Amino acid sequence: MRAVQVKEYVKGPLDLTVTEVPTPTPSADKYLIEIHSAGTNFFDILQIQGKYQHQPPLPWVGGSEFAGIIAAVPTAASSPRFRVGDRVFGATQGAYATHVLAPEASLLPVPEGWSFEDAAGLFVTAPTSYGALVHRAGVKAGDWVLVHAAAGGVGLAAVQIAKAKGATVIATAGTQRKREIASQFGADYVVDYTDKAWPEQVKKLCATHRQGNGKAGVDIVYDPVGMIEASLKCVAWNARLLVIGFAAGKIEKVALNRVLLKNVSLVGLHWGMYAKHETEAVDAVWKGIFDLVAQGKFKGTAFSDESFNGLETVPKALKALGGRETWGKVVVNVISNEKAKSKL
Ligand SMILES: NC(=O)c1ccc[n+]([C@@H]2O[C@H](COP(=O)([O-])OP(=O)(O)OC[C@H]3O[C@@H](n4cnc5c(N)ncnc54)[C@H](OP(=O)(O)O)[C@@H]3O)[C@@H](O)[C@H]2O)c1
Repeated sequence: MRAVQVKEYVKGPLDLTVTEVPTPTPSADKYLIEIHSAGTNFFDILQIQGKYQHQPPLPWVGGSEFAGIIAAVPTAASSPRFRVGDRVFGATQGAYATHVLAPEASLLPVPEGWSFEDAAGLFVTAPTSYGALVHRAGVKAGDWVLVHAAAGGVGLAAVQIAKAKGATVIATAGTQRKREIASQFGADYVVDYTDKAWPEQVKKLCATHRQGNGKAGVDIVYDPVGMIEASLKCVAWNARLLVIGFAAGKIEKVALNRVLLKNVSLVGLHWGMYAKHETEAVDAVWKGIFDLVAQGKFKGTAFSDESFNGLETVPKALKALGGRETWGKVVVNVISNEKAKSKL
C-alpha cells in the first residue's frame, strides 16, 4: 500500500513523503479498511515533529481520522458489527495511507447520504462538541452560547449542536471569511475576537436582545482557544464555561474571584478519555449526533475553499491547517472523488 510513513521526526509537514509499505494482512481482532478520505488534526503536525503526547516507536504512518470501506473483517470475530463493503469512519494511528487496521470500537457507520470526505472529519469534533454542550453544560432552548473559534473543526460542530438544541449562538472568529462560514452554519451573531473589545460587543448584544439575568451576558461559553479569562467579562449568572482546548498555545490561569462573584462553573471536557472512564456516555453522545444528522440538523464541515486529492497532498493540507488558513475540517481525499465515483 501507499502511506505517509514517518521514519524519523521532521521539521514540518512539507518534509513528509509518500512511500510504498506492505499492506496490512487481515487481523484476528481488527478490521482492514480501504481508506477513501483522511481528516487532518493539529496533533498530526505535533506527532510528525515528535512533540505529541502519543509517539509510537518509529517508523509509523501518520494521520488518525479516516473514512473508507471495510476490506476484511477480524478473522477471529464470531459476530462482527460490520461486513466487507460497509462504509465506515473512525480514528486510529495511520490514516494517511491507502489501508489501515482498526478495532471495532474505533469505527462507526458513515451516515446515510454522507460523503467519505465529510465523514472523515466527524470522529473527533462532533462528539467533543456534543459531549461538552449537551452532557457537560446541559444546553437547552433559550440559552445563549458563545462559541470561540467558531469556524474551526470543533467550533463549527458546536455552532450546529447549540442551534439544533434551540440556543442562540454568538460566534467569534479571526477573519471575515471564517465569520461568514460560522453564519452559514447557523450562528445568529458573529464577533471579531481580534478586536480586544470583543467582550463588550458580546455584552452589548445580550443587553440589547436578552431579558433579566441574560442582559449581563451568555449562559454557556465554548472555548477551544484559551479565552476563559476574557469570557468571564460577558457571562450571565449561573453560566457554564467549557474548557475545550488551548489553540492559542497558552494554558490559561484564571482569577477565581470572578468565578465566585458571577456564580459560574468552569467545566472541562476530555473526549478521548470517555472511552476509558465513561463508556456508556460514548454511545449516548453518538446516538445524539446521529439523531441530529437524521433530522438534517448536523452536516459535514469539510473545508471546500481548496481540494486535497491524493496522499501527496497531505503535506500541503497539514501546512494549510497549521497556518490557520482553513475552516471546518481539512480532509485529504486519499482516493480522489473522481476515482471513487468511477468505482461505483
Ligand atoms: N477537549 C477535547 O476533548 C478536545 C477534542 C478535540 C479538540 N480539542 C482541542 O480543541 C482545539 C481546537 O481544535 P480544532 O480541531 O477545532 O482545531 P482547528 O480546526 O485547527 O481550529 C482551531 C481554531 O483556533 C483558532 N485559533 C486561535 N488562536 C490560534 C493560534 N494561535 N493558532 C491556530 N489557531 C488558533 C483559529 O480560529 P481563528 O483563526 O478564527 O482565530 C482556528 O480556526 C485544539 O486545541 C484541540 O486540541 C480538544
